[in-house]
Amino acid sequence: MKITYYGHACVMIEVESKKLIIDPFLRDNPLCPVKPEELAVDCIALTHGHSDHLGEAVFLAQRNKAPVVAIFELALYLQTKGVSWVEPMNIGGKVSLPWGDIRLVPAFHSSSIEEGKERRYLGMPAGIVFTSGGKTVYHAGDTGLFSDMKLIGELYHPNVALLPIGDRFTMGPAEALKAAQWIRPQVTVPIHYNTFPVIKQDPHAFVADLEKMGLKGVVLAPGEALTIS
Ligand code: NI
Ligand code: MN
Repeated sequence: MKITYYGHACVMIEVESKKLIIDPFLRDNPLCPVKPEELAVDCIALTHGHSDHLGEAVFLAQRNKAPVVAIFELALYLQTKGVSWVEPMNIGGKVSLPWGDIRLVPAFHSSSIEEGKERRYLGMPAGIVFTSGGKTVYHAGDTGLFSDMKLIGELYHPNVALLPIGDRFTMGPAEALKAAQWIRPQVTVPIHYNTFPVIKQDPHAFVADLEKMGLKGVVLAPGEALTIS
């Protein structure tokens, strides 16, 4: 399993010849080194509807004839925006693809999108647990710290946890450190930082703090990948 980071909360997970992209915030993501036109994907999964996560989901779904897996309200909203293949689901359950399972788990955040002068509510935000070939990745989405992260560790034993450290809109580094202690993944990768000045953080200091706790962390620069076997 190969995990490529595209900055902010966007990751591509490759298993054999299949590619899952999570939160494809590409065009307006100042850290993203790739263009949406360059990416071939087999599935798009979304943690919530904020524009820095939804990104080019509609474009990628249409161009690649790929399904969008998302919480019920968000999936149905995307259907009205021209996505023909959606897989609506909800927290606690999973959608099984022939090459992996996508499960939504809780996240404490909000979810909405701008519609004219209003904001439309898009259902609960979520974290994503993806499992394929005996390997599991937990993408926490945008979330504050919550103690049921212990359960995510206990039930799904993620090999990799992608945890937001930006603060302000999500956990900051201190909370993410506690999350990693609770989840106990083999590797923790910080996400959702340095995209904008208000979420500026030092990911290397975060990884150094993980190591003091006996946990492994890896900083992925945008475009860099981590392979787990
Ligand atoms: Ni958000
Ligand atoms: Mn966000």
